Amino acid sequence: MKTLISQAELETGITSMSADINKQLGSTPLTVICVLTGSIILVADLIRHLEMPLRLGALSASSYKGNTDRSELTLDTHLLPKLKGQHVLIVDDIFDTGHTLNEVIKHIQTLQPAAVYTAVLLQKNGRQEIELDIDFVAFEIPDEFVVGYGLDYQDLYRNLPYVAVLEEHEIRQATDASA
Ligand code: IMP
Ligand code: MG
Repeated sequence: MKTLISQAELETGITSMSADINKQLGSTPLTVICVLTGSIILVADLIRHLEMPLRLGALSASSYKGNTDRSELTLDTHLLPKLKGQHVLIVDDIFDTGHTLNEVIKHIQTLQPAAVYTAVLLQKNGRQEIELDIDFVAFEIPDEFVVGYGLDYQDLYRNLPYVAVLEEHEIRQATDASA
């Protein structure tokens, strides 16, 4: 495993992203939506830098690869607070192809919020399949599979305090171990 973004770099990037959010969104009350499970660590760190009156909610997005190449996304929205008329900031761990955030945004829009903003820790270069501009991005990364700071491989590694690239043989080992 090789470190891609160190603990100190994460702190700097998240502080800088929260300064942008404070500056652009001002003192309007904000409802932050944590997209579980990957963004749980980011949200915990991010919201402690935000200065507006803030409510916190969550939804869960998980994708399962069945027999097809396209994975199917399941949203569990029962933890969402009332969003009608609210300014909402959706926070996710990574923008990869964009399908997850696109579906999450579509669902949130049906709840009639006043405004919807998006923030991600990572945006993977060269992978985007959905036309979508993320409002706040902490780091752009190359097209490699990363873990740590909330991001998982087969539900492991979320607890690493840094972001690391998982190498081929580690992916194989983990696959063998779970077989
Ligand atoms: P999407 O392709 O933008 O829909 O991203 C789908 C989901 O795949 C993300 O929310 C992550 O949970 C996961 N994902 C994508 N790339 C990575 C990665 O490099 N490491 C860990 N999870 C990833
Ligand atoms: Mg995941």
